Amino acid sequence: MSDLLLTGIGELVTNASGRGGALDVLPDAAVAVDGGTIAWVGPEAELPDEVRDRDTVDCEGRSVLPGFVDAHTHLVFAGDRADEFVRRRAGESYEDILASGGGIHATVAATTTAPTADLTRVSVARALRMLRHGTTTVEIKSGYGLATGAEARLLEVAAEVGRATPLDVVTTFLGAHVTPVGMRSGDYVRLIIDEMLPACAPLADGCDVFCDRGAFSVDEARRILKEAAARGLDLRIHAEQLAHTGAAALAAELRAASADHLDHATRSDASALAAAGTVAVLVPGAALTMAGTPPARLLAEAGVTLAIATDCNPGTSNIESMPLVVALAVHELGLEPAEATWAATRGGARALGLGDRGFVAPGAVADLIVLEAPSHVDLSYRPGSVEPWRVIKRGVAV
Ligand code: NIG
Ligand code: FE
Repeated sequence: MSDLLLTGIGELVTNASGRGGALDVLPDAAVAVDGGTIAWVGPEAELPDEVRDRDTVDCEGRSVLPGFVDAHTHLVFAGDRADEFVRRRAGESYEDILASGGGIHATVAATTTAPTADLTRVSVARALRMLRHGTTTVEIKSGYGLATGAEARLLEVAAEVGRATPLDVVTTFLGAHVTPVGMRSGDYVRLIIDEMLPACAPLADGCDVFCDRGAFSVDEARRILKEAAARGLDLRIHAEQLAHTGAAALAAELRAASADHLDHATRSDASALAAAGTVAVLVPGAALTMAGTPPARLLAEAGVTLAIATDCNPGTSNIESMPLVVALAVHELGLEPAEATWAATRGGARALGLGDRGFVAPGAVADLIVLEAPSHVDLSYRPGSVEPWRVIKRGVAV
């Protein structure tokens, strides 16, 4: 753990006020770090003598922002679905491929047959690529096991990603991704409640359900999530992605930590999520390949807290880069550059219930990105061209 000083910051995005979407940008700034925590933030001209004597990085006018918090990923998986992607581009639908035993089922087959060492290796490699793109905290869902031991193994691999990389990992049990081939959904829901949740809850921070057409119904999701809440897990829902089913209203009813996707969310869903304090996690990568568009402006104007995430998975969003997600959120979803930057940092932290990061102020975790650009606006103004120059995780340049 080093004591670090960043000087020459052209533009420091602090997110300090905590107001949704309000970046609070400080020009010509410096940041001092003590042992993994932010110690001092302010105009460089006012740098106190007592914070000067430490390893110093001159940012040479670059923009500095909080590390990205990617609040929705399925990054523990084996194999790929490039063949399915090509079929979908030629006109086949995601839902038809899933219903005929492909899609998620194909990844379940590839993942459950992969040796743990191989699965860990590809997952760690994926997480390290995310770190290079500036992600310093990542949520990881299970969901490609669909049986008790297989789901527990995925959560253990997710935890290993946290130990084997500098990233902080938040884990989510997504046993209710789809019903395994050959099983009746009622039987699988009972298995989740009676056997999988008791085994997996101790390995997870949260529980998610894919509540949608062709996956789990609102009633099934309610039963699973109530059991998860009773076991102390934060609740998340894949909601209103393929069709409007009432999943967002369920998220509000259960005061879920997040409702994710929301392509088909309505005005009344937006009001309910705002009133419940449920964060909307929008995943523009999935929206891009599924030709859906979550009503980001409607949600923002209803006062819903917004996060944006990669949704990294082999089916709908094989994306690891939060800079790309920020650009897509601006160009595809209509967020303003400042809103998108906030949603990728403090918004992600809010979705994960992490009050100690996603902003730059004394006491916050010292997760910082020095962008190879003078402004965070360049993330969407120059899409695909702006990456971190340095990534700092808990005060250490990685
Ligand atoms: O977030 N919608 C459900 N789950 C994932 C896709 C998983 C997959 O296709 O493998 C999603 O889009
Ligand atoms: Fe997802």
